[in-house]
Amino acid sequence: MVARAIILAFLCALLPACASQGRPGFADDLQIIPRPASVSPSSGAFVLRPSTRIAVPDDDEVRWIGAWLADLLSRTAQPGIQLVDLGAPDSDIIVLQIASLPGNAGDEAYRLQVSPGKIVVAANDPAGLFYGAVSLWQLATAGAPVDRAITIPAVTIEDAPRFAWRGLMLDVARHYLPPPAIKNMIDWMALHKLNVLHWHLTDDQGWRLEIPGYPRLTEVGAWRVPAGEAAAQDIDPATGQPREYGGYYTADEVRDLVAYAAKRQVTIVPEIDMPGHAQAALAAYPQLGAGEPPAGVSSDWGVHDYLFNVEESTFATLEAILAEVLKLFPSPYIHIGGDEAVKTRWESSERVQARINELGLETEAELQSWFIKRIERFLAAHGRKLIGWDEILEGGLAPAATVMSWRGVDGAVEAASLGHDAVLTPSPTLYFDHFQSRLPGEPPGRGGVVSLQDVYSFDPIPEELSEAERRHVLGIQANLWSEHIRLPARLAYMAFPRAAALAEVAWSPPARLDWANFASRLPAQFERYRLLGIPFATSAFDVRVAADWRAAGDIVVELSNQSGTGTIRYTADGSAVTAGSPPYTEPLRLAASAELAAATFLGGRQVSRRAGGRVGRLASQRWSQELELCTRRLVLSLEDDAPVEATDARRVFLVDLMNPCWIWRGVDLSGVARIEASVGQVPFNFQLGADRDKIKLAPGSATGELIVRANGCQGELVAILPLLDPALTDGVRVLSGELDNPPQGETDLCFRFTARKLDPLWVLDRVALVRERHARDTAAP
Ligand code: ACM
Repeated sequence: MVARAIILAFLCALLPACASQGRPGFADDLQIIPRPASVSPSSGAFVLRPSTRIAVPDDDEVRWIGAWLADLLSRTAQPGIQLVDLGAPDSDIIVLQIASLPGNAGDEAYRLQVSPGKIVVAANDPAGLFYGAVSLWQLATAGAPVDRAITIPAVTIEDAPRFAWRGLMLDVARHYLPPPAIKNMIDWMALHKLNVLHWHLTDDQGWRLEIPGYPRLTEVGAWRVPAGEAAAQDIDPATGQPREYGGYYTADEVRDLVAYAAKRQVTIVPEIDMPGHAQAALAAYPQLGAGEPPAGVSSDWGVHDYLFNVEESTFATLEAILAEVLKLFPSPYIHIGGDEAVKTRWESSERVQARINELGLETEAELQSWFIKRIERFLAAHGRKLIGWDEILEGGLAPAATVMSWRGVDGAVEAASLGHDAVLTPSPTLYFDHFQSRLPGEPPGRGGVVSLQDVYSFDPIPEELSEAERRHVLGIQANLWSEHIRLPARLAYMAFPRAAALAEVAWSPPARLDWANFASRLPAQFERYRLLGIPFATSAFDVRVAADWRAAGDIVVELSNQSGTGTIRYTADGSAVTAGSPPYTEPLRLAASAELAAATFLGGRQVSRRAGGRVGRLASQRWSQELELCTRRLVLSLEDDAPVEATDARRVFLVDLMNPCWIWRGVDLSGVARIEASVGQVPFNFQLGADRDKIKLAPGSATGELIVRANGCQGELVAILPLLDPALTDGVRVLSGELDNPPQGETDLCFRFTARKLDPLWVLDRVALVRERHARDTAAP
């Protein structure tokens, strides 16, 4: 028996589906994300009906979980479910109970037993009970009800997380998020069994936490004038000055959010960034800074050089701020930033240099280390642990600090080798401000795609770590930096479903991780997102249409999706695409007048947006996202700055900030008479230091022009499209020009702007080639 168990355990390490012993493939039917550690099917099923009751003992925490589950089930699965006291009926019942689970199951472990007539969720602690309830909710939302009844197959699930730290970071400094939007994120994190909300509360662009005794932190530090001409001209009648943007959280709001999160097993870890990322604080209290004070709170992105100084009075202020933070946040960890503290202002400050000497230090890095150690002593004296970005390793790590590794995983490796704990949040893979695909229609973001599969494939244990060092990896976290995420709906879109992949990597045993299996559980997850009103991305499945005009006059269309998962189906006659439409198997030859519709289906459900349109138009135009960038130095997807409020009313431009230049490869120009380009402008609000001088714009007229060359960017000029006065332009506009003696056959078209200044920056939105004979099918709609 023992030998058999050992062999089974060995096989289980190799075979992902093995943890469900019994019916082969059964585990794949359980629509739970993150995938449970162990699943054992039995016979029969529980039927969830409006009459089903949730029974709870006389315990406030358990009662709260029961009420929460009843509400969630009633809203999303089966209306009418109510709470009763334990011991009432013994059938048609879901029982939640604290019980001693066998072995060394921790607080977050749970056992979920589904049998006909009765479901029992048991855990050592309310945390585990909450997670068991989440899994049960997922079983109840695996499919649509039939005759008002939901059937849940009998099963025993025994589950516990792989990592204790399963985090998401919200950056409310760059763009303020109102408390209801934060509550939404907490709700949605909890439904993924994510348990740490790292709250980035302060930065160069905003100070968001009210601190008694320091009113200017929020009176001044929480507000900025947004970048760009349109914002500068938007005068607030109350002040006669440009209207300010921002916001902050009062102590009451923070207490409410902390309690709200705690009920959902989410700990809020606050971050007060120091010694850098301090411009908003220094705009409020210049005496805290080294060198000249800033003119105000920054509206720029990038690394700023304002640092706190190292005066005793400054530490007194920082400690007063932290004392308030400790009052508001019960989290054992307090994040003190520590990242990207460019030392120029310390280098040029006589007082800071004198302090370095006095302390017997050699370098500014050592001074930063001394600074962080001093803050650690304060936190430790109050029973808390310091966590900081991996720069806190430089100049010597504070004695008990935990390192958040963001510049790859090296910070975690170094921390673990020194015997310190680490959380992995490496850029770019776990930086969810990166866009999810290169398809038009993605909201703004940082460049370089971070796909759903990239996140799912992330291995949280760097292979350099020894067995002993591995124990120092507390877990993983994704960061939602918000320079380019200015709306709550966009935040959710950037988070989901990548947070589902993150959650599974953080929770499930490595042997249970399998992309195809995960993907098979996404249709149900997407349906849950719809039920809950979560704006989410389908980028992994969205269909890319590559349509190319061939010299012969027909158009070749290739369809693909990012993940290569699911079945792409299409129609070319203007009818709706459905699960019954023909599957795409090979490139299509279609007429310019054909109307294409395509989508990806998985498990019989549509899991992508619908792609398509008039084929002639698809073949004759490219959005910036579909063009190649001439270089990839600092790729961003940005919005124009027109004063438009609606989420999707703006165009989003893909650009290499260091070299705004786009290429359309392999274009056949036969029969092309005219070129149309829609172009826009974005404010150039980027702090790039000396790199700014490396951006070379071709000189042109006062208003500038779009220059089009054939045979690449050094090739012959084929069109010059004059731009219009930027001051007159409040959004995207369409330019048009004749092609002058273009080469025949295939060529690479290169697009660049001439301009006399960088700000605002002209950017390409879309180019279209108009073929006279097909003008109806190729001109812009
Ligand atoms: C960071 O991205 N500056 C931690």
